[in-house]
Amino acid sequence: MKKVSYKALGLVNTKKMFAKAVKGGYAIPAFNFNTMEQMQAIVQAAVETKSPVIMQVSKGARKYANPTILRYMAQGAVEYAKELGCKKPEIVLHLDHGDSFETCKSCIDSGFSSVMIDGSALPFKDNIKLTKKVVAYAHKYGVTVEAELGVLAGVEDEVAAEESHYTKPEEVIEFATKTGCDSLAISIGTSHGAYKFKPEQCTRDPKTGKLVPPPLAFDVLKAIEKKLPGFPIVLHGSSSVPQDEVDTINKYGGKLPDAVGIPEEQLRKAAKSAVCKINIDSDSRLAMTAAIRKHLAENPGHFDPRQYLTPARDNMKKMYIHKIVKVLGSNGKLG
Ligand code: G3H
Ligand code: 13P
Ligand code: ZN
Repeated sequence: MKKVSYKALGLVNTKKMFAKAVKGGYAIPAFNFNTMEQMQAIVQAAVETKSPVIMQVSKGARKYANPTILRYMAQGAVEYAKELGCKKPEIVLHLDHGDSFETCKSCIDSGFSSVMIDGSALPFKDNIKLTKKVVAYAHKYGVTVEAELGVLAGVEDEVAAEESHYTKPEEVIEFATKTGCDSLAISIGTSHGAYKFKPEQCTRDPKTGKLVPPPLAFDVLKAIEKKLPGFPIVLHGSSSVPQDEVDTINKYGGKLPDAVGIPEEQLRKAAKSAVCKINIDSDSRLAMTAAIRKHLAENPGHFDPRQYLTPARDNMKKMYIHKIVKVLGSNGKLG
């Protein structure tokens, strides 16, 4: 693929938007995308709410959609935002969970304006070494770098949300100073996917029978903020797993028992602190799947993808707007 700068694509890096978000007590939405409908819904929501937005792609998304197509989709997103009436869109194309220097370099060379190098599974010193190498390359091109310290829990890997996996506040100064990273993803009890907690980690609402998850470790977040005042902090695994979407999926043939996410009031609280980027992927998947299942169940004769992808796109857009306005508070923050 020909080398291209993100600036030529009309994208921006995260530097200014994070500084503004930390100061303003809100968070920038970071929505994952794999498909055109997700991209359209993200752009429509960001334009309508006048919000900056991070469109992020995982390694899996690059494999699914093709890196070249994703790059042009991001460029298309900028042009589409302008067409929808936004004079100066603030759109970041971000690599989510970059696993190697080579993946980060390939993204930087193909027009990404921000990359994450996820060395969180490595020993502390190796994480520093790898992150530093990515930062040195990225900063040459004005690309911002997110790093990670601490391990996110997840039922997928049988890791329980134990305190031992939380980011250690005593490590963050050395890590940020030695690596030169622009933002830091931390572990305070969030996790990826639609099953963030095992039932035994939760209590049950006696009225609804639904699981009530344990609270995030705000004491750890506070301690990190104290060590790195004003430094941009990132929360992964921050889908709320809306129960109405889960119920719709289950009503129309799906099977997602005991799916549970992070309550929105906790994310609202985090967004008011140094947390300035909140990652949401699963909620988009749920919104899309719920709308498609409902549509197909109610319209068994439909087989044109546009018939069921239109309500899916609309449902995702509704969810993105809700997050921006009611949870993260990034609406009206362009410019
Ligand atoms: O953090 C993971 C994101 O939700 C991306 O998921 O690797 O299935 O694309 P994925
Ligand atoms: P969710 O699975 O909670 O949406 O988290 C997404 C994420 O952290 C992407 O990096
Ligand atoms: Zn993540």
